[in-house]
Amino acid sequence: MQSEIDVATPEEFLQVAALDRLAWPAAPDTFIPDGEHIWRIWCDFATLLVARQPGGTDLPQTGHVAGAVVMFPTRQQELCLHKIMVHPDCRGQGLGSQLMRAALSRADAPVLLTVDPENSAAVQLYQNFGFTVRERIDGFYRPHEHRFLMVHPGGLSG
Ligand SMILES: CC(C)(COP(=O)(O)OP(=O)(O)OC[C@H]1O[C@@H](n2cnc3c(N)ncnc32)[C@H](O)[C@@H]1OP(=O)(O)O)[C@@H](O)C(=O)NCCC(=O)NCCS
Repeated sequence: MQSEIDVATPEEFLQVAALDRLAWPAAPDTFIPDGEHIWRIWCDFATLLVARQPGGTDLPQTGHVAGAVVMFPTRQQELCLHKIMVHPDCRGQGLGSQLMRAALSRADAPVLLTVDPENSAAVQLYQNFGFTVRERIDGFYRPHEHRFLMVHPGGLSG
């Protein structure tokens, strides 16, 4: 069954923040989750899309929120896709692809993102949609946190 993908409502920001805490591997010495306040801000001022569970069933910790993607304009007239994430219980069923399709269909400018080069699931998802690596930036965050900067022309082809 396909999830419903829609713009997040302000009432959903805590569930998205909970998903952000749950989505990342518990690697030592990482600060990946964003704070609740920024998720609330993004509900109003970014493109924040959520995937809602079909059938009204609740997921551990996130309720009906099975996935999310957030994207916002940069000062260079491009878009930054900051995060895409799927609840661990819902992965491998096409939800990440559904979210990416929904985000790119709203992208009227080139889309940039950064990703940990070791995150093979995410890198593969991005390549499936035509993202290419523009640059590898070592120490993008802290000295041990490297990133690929990946780009997409925006929109959906085909
Ligand atoms: C990356 C993520 C969003 C993918 O979500 P998903 O719902 O599992 O993705 P899909 O089922 O649509 O799969 C999309 C593609 O990703 C790749 N993929 C998914 N899981 C994978 C895995 N464990 N290993 C390698 N590739 C994988 C596959 O190429 C897959 O397409 P295919 O099955 O047609 O080959 C999800 O794994 C996630 O939330 N990870 C944690 C958060 C994260 O790392 N986000 C990205 C950085 S912001």
